[in-house]
Amino acid sequence: MPDTLAAKTVAAFTTTTEQSEPVAYANILIERRDVFATITIDRPQVLNALSHATRAELADAIDDLGAEKAVRAIIVTGSGQKAFSSGADIAELEALETGQEGFEHSRRSHELLMKMHALSKPVIMAVNGYALGGGCELALAGDIILASENAQFGLPEVGLGIIPGFGGTQRLPRLIGRTRALEIILTGRRLRAAEALEMGLVNRVVPLEELMVTAEGIASTIAEQAPLAVALAKRALYEGLETGPRAGNEAEMAYFGLAVGTADRREGTAAFLQKRAPKWQGK
Ligand code: COA
Repeated sequence: MPDTLAAKTVAAFTTTTEQSEPVAYANILIERRDVFATITIDRPQVLNALSHATRAELADAIDDLGAEKAVRAIIVTGSGQKAFSSGADIAELEALETGQEGFEHSRRSHELLMKMHALSKPVIMAVNGYALGGGCELALAGDIILASENAQFGLPEVGLGIIPGFGGTQRLPRLIGRTRALEIILTGRRLRAAEALEMGLVNRVVPLEELMVTAEGIASTIAEQAPLAVALAKRALYEGLETGPRAGNEAEMAYFGLAVGTADRREGTAAFLQKRAPKWQGK
């Protein structure tokens, strides 16, 4: 049984805290609402560009909210009505001197995205405008991706003399296929929300004023499900995508077994048969 990640997944719910001490962030806002939390990238003056500090704060927030028992899903969005995120802070890119610094820049970004994938809770991206470069790549790393009608997606890096360094060359082809991904990456052209939907890059497109309520509705529905089952299903899916169907099927069998052994599985099946709502314990 591939138990390392499974153990972490289970531990994420069994070793949880009530709520972390409020941390003062400079570049993001955190709002806790009952069963979910929202992270808002808050640098509207630069269209929510992802500075080093912003990415570090996002990583800390993911750690904190990931450990909080009450938080069953995380929504990520951008401040204002114009941008989800315009990507890496180009002023910081300009200051990079060496290839090693570039590598470190990309590595730190990847660590943030891996943290989100490893998280036992779903991350819902509420893309409320431009999602370009690292902003697009951040959105692609979400478990569920919602877009407002004014959203635009693109990977314009080759026009800056760089390549996507926040997972774009890997996640985009897996989402929409190699040929479409190559066209987008090699031309840097932007997709409007309707085209992104048609390509399967996003789950839904809704009017801007309905974006957050839609994201919150999905977060609440997820919170009605058994926490460990949600976590294990997410893990099985990514493990299969990362390794291939054979190892993925092995992971599914192992995690199915883990789920069957939980108190919540007993509660879930009993509640169905007794025609009542289940009461989850997260174990
Ligand atoms: N990094 C740093 N600053 C950024 C930024 C980024 N990624 N994206 C936008 N800004 C800044 C602009 O420089 C501008 O600053 P100023 O007011 O001091 O001039 C401000 O944000 C507003 O952007 P502006 O370009 O004036 O808005 P616009 O509506 O004309 O265009 C975009 C919007 C998103 C199309 C355009 O800002 C853009 O192309 N941004 C860069 C996207 C990108 O290449 N990202 C990949 C980085 S790897």
